[in-house]
Amino acid sequence: MQGDAMDPASGGAAARQAEQDGWKRAAADAALAEVASGMTLGLGTGSTADLFVRALAERTRQGLSVTGVATSERTASLARALGIPLVDFDAVDHLDVSFDGADEVTLPGLSLVKGRGGALLHEKLVALASRRRIILADDTKIVAALGVGTIIPTEVTMFGWRHTAARLAALGCQVTLRPAAGAQPPAPFISDSGNYTLDLVFATPQNPTQLAIAIKATPGVIDHGLFIGVTDRVYIGGPGGARAADRQ
Ligand code: A5P
Repeated sequence: MQGDAMDPASGGAAARQAEQDGWKRAAADAALAEVASGMTLGLGTGSTADLFVRALAERTRQGLSVTGVATSERTASLARALGIPLVDFDAVDHLDVSFDGADEVTLPGLSLVKGRGGALLHEKLVALASRRRIILADDTKIVAALGVGTIIPTEVTMFGWRHTAARLAALGCQVTLRPAAGAQPPAPFISDSGNYTLDLVFATPQNPTQLAIAIKATPGVIDHGLFIGVTDRVYIGGPGGARAADRQ
Protein backbone atom coordinates (compact mmCIF):
# COMPACT_ATOMS: atom_id res chain seq x y z
CA MET A 1 0.00 0.00 0.00
CA GLN A 2 2.85 2.32 0.88
CA GLY A 3 4.35 1.65 -2.53
CA ASP A 4 1.06 2.64 -4.15
CA ALA A 5 0.89 5.83 -2.16
CA MET A 6 4.39 6.71 -3.40
CA ASP A 7 3.44 6.02 -7.01
CA PRO A 8 2.42 9.30 -8.72
CA ALA A 9 0.14 7.37 -11.10
CA SER A 10 -1.84 5.69 -8.30
CA GLY A 11 -1.78 8.93 -6.30
CA GLY A 12 -3.45 10.61 -9.28
CA ALA A 13 -6.02 7.81 -9.52
CA ALA A 14 -6.78 8.14 -5.80
CA ALA A 15 -7.25 11.89 -6.18
CA ARG A 16 -9.58 11.40 -9.15
CA GLN A 17 -11.57 8.81 -7.19
CA ALA A 18 -11.88 11.19 -4.23
CA GLU A 19 -13.04 13.94 -6.57
CA GLN A 20 -15.63 11.66 -8.18
CA ASP A 21 -16.85 10.55 -4.74
CA GLY A 22 -17.43 14.23 -3.92
CA TRP A 23 -19.47 14.62 -7.11
CA LYS A 24 -21.55 11.53 -6.26
CA ARG A 25 -22.16 12.93 -2.77
CA ALA A 26 -23.27 16.27 -4.24
CA ALA A 27 -25.81 14.47 -6.46
CA ALA A 28 -27.08 12.38 -3.54
CA ASP A 29 -27.46 15.42 -1.30
CA ALA A 30 -29.28 17.41 -4.00
CA ALA A 31 -31.73 14.56 -4.58
CA LEU A 32 -32.82 14.64 -0.94
CA ALA A 33 -34.93 17.67 -1.88
CA GLU A 34 -37.29 15.17 -3.58
CA VAL A 35 -38.06 13.39 -0.28
CA ALA A 36 -40.94 14.19 2.08
CA SER A 37 -42.18 12.50 5.23
CA GLY A 38 -44.60 9.65 4.65
CA MET A 39 -43.07 8.56 1.34
CA THR A 40 -42.17 5.03 0.34
CA LEU A 41 -38.81 5.19 -1.44
CA GLY A 42 -36.95 2.84 -3.74
CA LEU A 43 -33.35 2.53 -2.57
CA GLY A 44 -30.93 1.68 -5.36
CA THR A 45 -27.66 -0.22 -5.34
CA GLY A 46 -24.06 0.88 -5.80
CA SER A 47 -21.63 3.40 -4.37
CA THR A 48 -23.76 6.43 -5.30
CA ALA A 49 -26.96 4.87 -3.97
CA ASP A 50 -25.06 4.07 -0.76
CA LEU A 51 -24.24 7.76 -0.37
CA PHE A 52 -27.92 8.58 -0.84
CA VAL A 53 -28.94 6.02 1.80
CA ARG A 54 -26.41 7.52 4.22
CA ALA A 55 -27.66 11.06 3.57
CA LEU A 56 -31.25 9.87 3.94
CA ALA A 57 -30.43 8.19 7.26
CA GLU A 58 -29.03 11.47 8.53
CA ARG A 59 -32.34 13.14 7.68
CA THR A 60 -34.37 10.39 9.36
CA ARG A 61 -32.33 10.92 12.53
CA GLN A 62 -33.50 14.55 12.33
CA GLY A 63 -37.16 13.46 12.19
CA LEU A 64 -37.94 12.63 8.54
CA SER A 65 -40.21 9.57 8.41
CA VAL A 66 -39.92 7.35 5.33
CA THR A 67 -40.07 3.68 4.41
CA GLY A 68 -37.66 2.07 1.98
CA VAL A 69 -37.77 -0.76 -0.53
CA ALA A 70 -34.23 -2.03 -1.10
CA THR A 71 -33.07 -3.18 -4.53
CA SER A 72 -30.42 -5.55 -3.14
CA GLU A 73 -29.31 -7.40 -0.04
CA ARG A 74 -26.36 -5.00 0.05
CA THR A 75 -28.60 -1.94 0.25
CA ALA A 76 -30.99 -3.62 2.68
CA SER A 77 -28.09 -4.33 5.06
CA LEU A 78 -26.89 -0.75 4.88
CA ALA A 79 -30.37 0.72 5.38
CA ARG A 80 -31.06 -1.59 8.34
CA ALA A 81 -27.72 -0.73 9.93
CA LEU A 82 -28.55 2.96 9.59
CA GLY A 83 -32.06 2.56 11.02
CA ILE A 84 -34.11 3.21 7.87
CA PRO A 85 -37.31 1.13 8.06
CA LEU A 86 -37.74 -1.26 5.14
CA VAL A 87 -40.79 -2.93 3.70
CA ASP A 88 -41.06 -5.90 1.34
CA PHE A 89 -41.51 -4.85 -2.28
CA ASP A 90 -44.65 -6.96 -2.67
CA ALA A 91 -46.20 -5.41 0.44
CA VAL A 92 -46.69 -2.07 -1.36
CA ASP A 93 -48.83 -1.21 -4.39
CA HIS A 94 -46.41 1.43 -5.61
CA LEU A 95 -43.49 3.55 -4.47
CA ASP A 96 -43.45 7.33 -4.42
CA VAL A 97 -39.91 7.89 -5.66
CA SER A 98 -36.97 5.62 -6.47
CA PHE A 99 -33.35 6.79 -6.19
CA ASP A 100 -30.57 4.86 -7.88
CA GLY A 101 -27.20 5.22 -9.53
CA ALA A 102 -26.28 4.43 -13.13
CA ASP A 103 -23.25 3.33 -15.08
CA GLU A 104 -23.96 5.41 -18.17
CA VAL A 105 -26.47 8.19 -18.92
CA THR A 106 -27.30 9.92 -22.20
CA LEU A 107 -28.78 13.41 -22.31
CA PRO A 108 -31.43 14.67 -22.89
CA GLY A 109 -33.34 11.36 -23.12
CA LEU A 110 -31.98 10.00 -19.80
CA SER A 111 -31.43 6.52 -21.23
CA LEU A 112 -29.20 4.43 -18.99
CA VAL A 113 -26.94 1.45 -18.69
CA LYS A 114 -27.28 -0.07 -15.24
CA GLY A 115 -26.34 -3.29 -13.54
CA ARG A 116 -22.58 -3.31 -13.41
CA GLY A 117 -23.12 -3.63 -9.65
CA GLY A 118 -25.19 -6.76 -10.25
CA ALA A 119 -28.66 -5.61 -9.18
CA LEU A 120 -30.30 -4.63 -12.48
CA LEU A 121 -33.37 -6.86 -12.23
CA HIS A 122 -34.47 -5.62 -8.82
CA GLU A 123 -33.50 -2.07 -9.76
CA LYS A 124 -35.67 -2.16 -12.88
CA LEU A 125 -38.65 -3.73 -11.09
CA VAL A 126 -38.50 -1.16 -8.28
CA ALA A 127 -38.06 1.76 -10.70
CA LEU A 128 -41.03 0.62 -12.80
CA ALA A 129 -43.23 0.47 -9.68
CA SER A 130 -42.27 4.04 -8.72
CA ARG A 131 -44.31 7.11 -9.58
CA ARG A 132 -41.12 9.14 -9.93
CA ARG A 133 -37.69 7.81 -10.85
CA ILE A 134 -34.55 9.69 -9.95
CA ILE A 135 -31.01 8.81 -10.98
CA LEU A 136 -27.93 10.01 -9.14
CA ALA A 137 -24.93 10.38 -11.42
CA ASP A 138 -21.77 12.38 -11.88
CA ASP A 139 -20.01 13.88 -14.88
CA THR A 140 -18.05 10.66 -15.54
CA LYS A 141 -21.31 8.78 -16.24
CA ILE A 142 -22.51 11.03 -19.07
CA VAL A 143 -21.87 9.46 -22.48
CA ALA A 144 -22.71 10.32 -26.09
CA ALA A 145 -23.91 6.76 -26.82
CA LEU A 146 -24.69 3.83 -24.52
CA GLY A 147 -22.59 0.69 -24.34
CA VAL A 148 -19.92 1.43 -26.94
CA GLY A 149 -17.02 -0.81 -25.95
CA THR A 150 -18.46 -0.99 -22.44
CA ILE A 151 -20.52 -3.59 -20.62
CA ILE A 152 -24.28 -3.97 -20.98
CA PRO A 153 -25.17 -6.40 -18.16
CA THR A 154 -27.86 -8.97 -18.86
CA GLU A 155 -29.39 -11.29 -16.27
CA VAL A 156 -30.08 -14.82 -17.57
CA THR A 157 -31.28 -18.14 -16.23
CA MET A 158 -28.53 -20.45 -15.00
CA PHE A 159 -30.12 -23.27 -16.94
CA GLY A 160 -28.81 -23.21 -20.48
CA TRP A 161 -26.78 -20.02 -20.02
CA ARG A 162 -24.25 -21.08 -22.67
CA HIS A 163 -27.06 -21.35 -25.23
CA THR A 164 -28.38 -17.95 -24.17
CA ALA A 165 -24.86 -16.51 -24.47
CA ALA A 166 -24.56 -17.88 -28.02
CA ARG A 167 -27.90 -16.31 -29.00
CA LEU A 168 -26.82 -12.98 -27.55
CA ALA A 169 -23.43 -13.15 -29.30
CA ALA A 170 -25.34 -13.49 -32.58
CA LEU A 171 -26.56 -9.91 -31.98
CA GLY A 172 -22.97 -8.84 -32.68
CA CYS A 173 -21.39 -8.56 -29.24
CA GLN A 174 -18.72 -10.22 -27.11
CA VAL A 175 -20.35 -12.11 -24.23
CA THR A 176 -18.69 -12.94 -20.90
CA LEU A 177 -20.16 -14.79 -17.93
CA ARG A 178 -19.59 -12.44 -14.99
CA PRO A 179 -17.36 -13.93 -12.29
CA ALA A 180 -18.04 -13.40 -8.59
CA ALA A 181 -15.54 -10.86 -7.29
CA GLY A 182 -12.76 -12.52 -5.33
CA ALA A 183 -14.30 -16.02 -5.35
CA GLN A 184 -11.78 -18.82 -4.69
CA PRO A 185 -12.05 -21.13 -6.52
CA PRO A 186 -13.40 -18.87 -9.30
CA ALA A 187 -17.19 -19.03 -9.60
CA PRO A 188 -19.87 -17.14 -11.51
CA PHE A 189 -21.55 -14.14 -9.93
CA ILE A 190 -25.09 -14.98 -8.77
CA SER A 191 -27.66 -12.20 -8.47
CA ASP A 192 -30.01 -11.75 -5.50
CA SER A 193 -32.67 -13.51 -7.60
CA GLY A 194 -30.35 -16.48 -8.19
CA ASN A 195 -29.46 -15.78 -11.82
CA TYR A 196 -26.24 -15.47 -13.80
CA THR A 197 -25.16 -12.21 -15.44
CA LEU A 198 -23.78 -12.08 -18.97
CA ASP A 199 -21.78 -8.96 -19.79
CA LEU A 200 -22.29 -7.88 -23.40
CA VAL A 201 -19.81 -5.60 -25.16
CA PHE A 202 -20.60 -4.07 -28.55
CA ALA A 203 -17.74 -2.43 -30.42
CA THR A 204 -19.94 0.07 -32.25
CA PRO A 205 -22.95 2.24 -31.28
CA GLN A 206 -26.31 0.44 -31.36
CA ASN A 207 -29.85 1.76 -31.40
CA PRO A 208 -30.62 1.37 -27.66
CA THR A 209 -34.37 0.89 -28.10
CA GLN A 210 -33.98 -1.78 -30.78
CA LEU A 211 -31.18 -3.45 -28.84
CA ALA A 212 -33.27 -3.52 -25.66
CA ILE A 213 -36.09 -5.24 -27.57
CA ALA A 214 -33.73 -7.76 -29.19
CA ILE A 215 -32.00 -8.69 -25.92
CA LYS A 216 -35.28 -8.98 -24.03
CA ALA A 217 -36.72 -11.21 -26.77
CA THR A 218 -33.82 -13.68 -26.45
CA PRO A 219 -34.90 -16.92 -24.75
CA GLY A 220 -33.08 -17.34 -21.44
CA VAL A 221 -32.83 -13.60 -20.81
CA ILE A 222 -34.60 -12.33 -17.71
CA ASP A 223 -33.76 -8.65 -18.12
CA HIS A 224 -30.97 -6.32 -19.21
CA GLY A 225 -29.32 -3.16 -18.01
CA LEU A 226 -30.70 -0.83 -20.70
CA PHE A 227 -33.20 1.50 -19.00
CA ILE A 228 -34.92 3.43 -21.80
CA GLY A 229 -37.63 5.99 -21.04
CA VAL A 230 -37.69 4.99 -17.39
CA THR A 231 -35.97 7.94 -15.69
CA ASP A 232 -37.70 11.23 -14.92
CA ARG A 233 -34.75 13.23 -13.59
CA VAL A 234 -31.03 12.82 -13.12
CA TYR A 235 -28.94 14.73 -10.62
CA ILE A 236 -25.43 15.10 -12.00
CA GLY A 237 -22.59 15.93 -9.63
CA GLY A 238 -19.56 17.73 -11.02
CA PRO A 239 -16.94 20.35 -10.22
CA GLY A 240 -19.62 23.05 -9.83
CA GLY A 241 -21.85 20.98 -7.51
CA ALA A 242 -25.00 19.14 -8.63
CA ARG A 243 -27.35 20.07 -11.44
CA ALA A 244 -30.67 18.46 -12.42
CA ALA A 245 -31.67 17.32 -15.91
CA ASP A 246 -35.22 16.23 -16.73
CA ARG A 247 -36.06 13.72 -19.45
CA GLN A 248 -36.88 15.37 -22.79
C1 A5P B 1 -26.07 -1.69 -9.64
O1 A5P B 1 -26.53 -2.87 -10.19
C2 A5P B 1 -25.90 -0.67 -10.70
O2 A5P B 1 -26.98 -0.48 -11.54
C3 A5P B 1 -25.44 0.65 -10.11
O3 A5P B 1 -26.52 1.51 -9.86
C4 A5P B 1 -24.52 1.27 -11.05
O4 A5P B 1 -23.54 0.29 -11.34
C5 A5P B 1 -23.87 2.52 -10.49
O5 A5P B 1 -23.00 2.19 -9.47
P1 A5P B 1 -22.07 3.28 -8.82
O6 A5P B 1 -22.92 4.30 -8.17
O7 A5P B 1 -21.25 2.50 -7.82
O8 A5P B 1 -21.22 3.84 -9.92
